[in-house]
Amino acid sequence: MEVAPKKVHIKTFGCQMNVYDSNRMLGLLQERGFVVEPDLREADVVLINTCSIRAKSEQKVLSLLGELKGLKDKKPETVLGISGCIGQRMGRTLLHRVPHLDLVFGPDSVDRVVPLVEEVMARGARLVEAEFEKMSRAYVQPAVVLDKAKPSEYLTIMKGCDHFCTYCIVPYVRGREKSRAIAEVLEDVRKLVDRGTKEIVFLGQNINTYGKGTEENLAQLIERAHEIEGLERIRYVTSHPRDLGMDLIEQFGKLPKLMPALHLPFQSGSNRILKRMSRLYTREDYLLKVEALRKACPEIALSTDAIVGFPGETEEEFEETLTLMEQVKFSLAFMFKYSPRPGTRAMIYAGEEVPEKIKEARLARLLKVVYPQIDAENRQYIGKITPVLIEAMDKKDMNFTGRNPAGKLVHVFNAGAACVGKVIDVEVTDANGSNLKGYYVHAERNAEPKTIKPRRAAEALPA
Ligand code: 5AD
Ligand code: SF4
Repeated sequence: MEVAPKKVHIKTFGCQMNVYDSNRMLGLLQERGFVVEPDLREADVVLINTCSIRAKSEQKVLSLLGELKGLKDKKPETVLGISGCIGQRMGRTLLHRVPHLDLVFGPDSVDRVVPLVEEVMARGARLVEAEFEKMSRAYVQPAVVLDKAKPSEYLTIMKGCDHFCTYCIVPYVRGREKSRAIAEVLEDVRKLVDRGTKEIVFLGQNINTYGKGTEENLAQLIERAHEIEGLERIRYVTSHPRDLGMDLIEQFGKLPKLMPALHLPFQSGSNRILKRMSRLYTREDYLLKVEALRKACPEIALSTDAIVGFPGETEEEFEETLTLMEQVKFSLAFMFKYSPRPGTRAMIYAGEEVPEKIKEARLARLLKVVYPQIDAENRQYIGKITPVLIEAMDKKDMNFTGRNPAGKLVHVFNAGAACVGKVIDVEVTDANGSNLKGYYVHAERNAEPKTIKPRRAAEALPA
């Protein structure tokens, strides 16, 4: 008798690296014969890939875990697992706290998802694996590439971070920096391009120092990837203002496939707070980098992250964040209230916590400055033509979505299925929040679907 394949559902929280890790796990499980199940309640294996960056990110996952108790009561044979940063941070504690949880593992065990899941299935064991992989350089594994690849794909080229910004949990849950070799990364890029990918987004928590301790670096990787035929667009995240060198800045003016967009978090506009955060640059250093980037590539779209209410932040210091935002005019900004993370160095300032109400008020003031800037920038596209890589058809709205070189999300109302995976010229007719809307210039125009809701930039926030 044939045995039905086991069904797996992975729910992902957090950053692009988690999206990449989830895809990788799905790929490995599919290779082993599992099938992807879109409905969590129907799956035999439910994995939640988690984020620890702020307390709120953890609360979301813990409440979901609570809700899933009902599912486990009804179907006790379901394997329920937690992977990612919460798995790493809480490890065994989580298994003790949540009796209906079967499996907990960290980001360095993503590649072991198949044996871990199978062991739980075979033995009914409850397992924890939250050790950092000790092998140094080669550890970040090649992508799992199935038959078809998406028009735009993430590709992790390094992991971990050596910076230890005082507020940040990442170095504790993702370990020290480890980079893959350029030759290996390029092999993955070629595989993806052969299967239909047009854009690669290289991922690393501190990507500018890719190749640290070797002869290789990010500028070399970009240059080599640029030569690959069929690859049309290259992007990378996340940069650190101190590590973004002139070689990388100048590439934006020289390499047409390198998209004119860069995420460059500044975190705070105050030098005293930057020092407390251990960011290793000043406001002036940051502004000089912005100037150099805009000189190299005048159309570059800069996006950023900022934290309000870091311990000890005075009203004047917060206003320096506000003025930096006013001055730079970012294309997109992600703004957060400081969230204390146990074990990070900022906990020594715990006595100087900014009250929640003040953090909220500061965030609201910042949003009030930033949103109109983003809206105004988006409106400048109206009436213009922008090239969009069509990534998908939104089934609900029957319209197509993709991104332009600046990374703006564009809804295209009259593209056809044949446009998916192609860069097409779109005339922008409207803009709202972080999105643009428009029509493919070489096709007939149809009516605009009624269901499109205006989306605010805030909805694009990572978890
Ligand atoms: N509290 C608030 N925001 C944080 N970030 C990182 N750690 C914290 C924290 N403890 C923000 C930073 C970072 C982004 C991914 O999340 O702005 O760039
Ligand atoms: Fe965290 Fe980024 Fe600082 Fe690394 S560089 S510690 S990932 S904020």
